[in-house]
Amino acid sequence: MEILGINGSPRGANSMTMKLVEAVLEGAKEAGAETKLIDLCSLKIDYCDACGVCYKKGKCVHEDDFGQVYDEIMASEGLVLGSPVYFGLVTAQMKTLIDRMSDAIHCQLLFGKYACAVSTAGSQGHQEVEDYINRIMVAMGANAAGSAGADMAVPNGMAEAMEKAFKLGQTLVADIKNKAVYVEQEEVHKMIKEQFGKIVDANKDEWTHEYEHWTKMGWL
Ligand SMILES: Cc1cc2nc3c(=O)[nH]c(=O)nc-3n(C[C@H](O)[C@H](O)[C@H](O)COP(=O)(O)O)c2cc1C
Repeated sequence: MEILGINGSPRGANSMTMKLVEAVLEGAKEAGAETKLIDLCSLKIDYCDACGVCYKKGKCVHEDDFGQVYDEIMASEGLVLGSPVYFGLVTAQMKTLIDRMSDAIHCQLLFGKYACAVSTAGSQGHQEVEDYINRIMVAMGANAAGSAGADMAVPNGMAEAMEKAFKLGQTLVADIKNKAVYVEQEEVHKMIKEQFGKIVDANKDEWTHEYEHWTKMGWL
């Protein structure tokens, strides 16, 4: 079982968010998983051009580092995405990665995977960022196992978040082993699948790759 961590802070080894991503991976490792870590900001990932080629061919036109990250995401059973709070949202680097995954939301490519989120803030907003990341993971088909985060202004906040993050890694592995079902997320999956099923069907002549994927999955 492979769990992949992706940190969206540009501060590399100094990143507090990185520490939380690593704590999740440590928890997952202790529970028996193999882990990998991607420092997103050390890679070159261009903005999505909205050209729609991935809808047609299942592959992006950009020749950059996105492909290797996407392959790692697809190869993993569990994901932990981390981002610091930047003006109330994820960092631009994390948002750029998410935008490049339009095909994943259309084709529900994270279906069957489990994900979780971590975030740190200078003073406020980590919970919103955690919720945002998990919402996107669920929208792409994954099951969200929870989140952990800290506000740097709160004494002991980081220590508590580290503990929570470690346990979250263990939960992620247990969820994968037990094929945990989150009833309220199943409702969201159903709704989003209906919505994108209609969109893909309506565009079947143009979005051939996506239509083939939906047909192959037996979802249409
Ligand atoms: C451009 C920028 C925007 C930020 N915006 C916020 C913010 O909106 N709210 C907040 O509480 N902290 C904000 N911060 C502080 C970071 O969220 C905080 O220092 C975080 O712990 C950094 O995480 P890192 O160590 O993983 O990079 C911002 C920092 C930067 C550089």
